[in-house]
Amino acid sequence: MTSLSISMILASVLFAGLLTAVQVNGDSAVELVATVAEQREFDYFALAVQWPPTYCTKSTKCCDQSGCCRGEDSPTWFTIHGLWPDYNDGSWPSCCSGPAFDETEISSLLNVLDKYWPTLSCSKASTCHNKKGLFWAHEWEKHGTCSSAVTGDEYSYFVTALNLYFKYNVTEVLFDAGYVPSNSEMYPSGGITAAIENAFHTTPQLVCLKGALEEVRLCLTKDFKFRDCVAASDCPEYVSLPTFASLDATKPAGRLISGAESS
Ligand SMILES: *[C@@H]1O[C@H](CO)[C@@H](O)[C@H](O)[C@H]1NC(C)=O
Repeated sequence: MTSLSISMILASVLFAGLLTAVQVNGDSAVELVATVAEQREFDYFALAVQWPPTYCTKSTKCCDQSGCCRGEDSPTWFTIHGLWPDYNDGSWPSCCSGPAFDETEISSLLNVLDKYWPTLSCSKASTCHNKKGLFWAHEWEKHGTCSSAVTGDEYSYFVTALNLYFKYNVTEVLFDAGYVPSNSEMYPSGGITAAIENAFHTTPQLVCLKGALEEVRLCLTKDFKFRDCVAASDCPEYVSLPTFASLDATKPAGRLISGAESS
């Protein structure tokens, strides 16, 4: 590799604190790994909660770990996707410097996390530096490390997200406003938005998948006051809030969705 191409890559890796070349599998291919140590401070948080019956329509395979596959015990409440640091320009930092995910740090939270922050996928999630791991590892390494100036270490990051989730119960707000799970009703997106606005005095970002509500994002300042989200909702005028379709666990696993949870 010439010094010219290295400097071009260096220039293209914004905020890279450290750049190292590693041999992959003795292959001559050289992979450049940026250990991002100095990404700029983020501007605000998004707390993303997801509706499992919608998310689970992406998956055709079942496994023990997936919250989609618990039959009667599958979550019929919004579960946490993540607490994400964001920039006002619509981008976000990821994979900041910080310790790799360590499950023992959150061992006292596992029961709660399993109920309210389960993975909804059978695939391993991508973590930083081209590795794979648990959904929680993905959330901590990609997002949690970048908010540590506010949310602290791994344990504190998960506790912070859980506390916000308990305090601002999106499931309760929507159910109380009459937006209850149904496979026949269609609900106005504007009504769902208004229900959140009435309860929390903030406009959420709604995310939809094929006409079904998939995610509600609440945006907060770094001192945890509500503020507007930057991105607009992508939902149609009327959306569904489906109940679980039963996943046929006996189906051959050939159609495993390989996409890892991406954000
Ligand atoms: C949120 O509200 C729903 C519906 O009332 C309830 O079932 C659920 O336990 C609440 N979630 C939390 C985390 O308190």
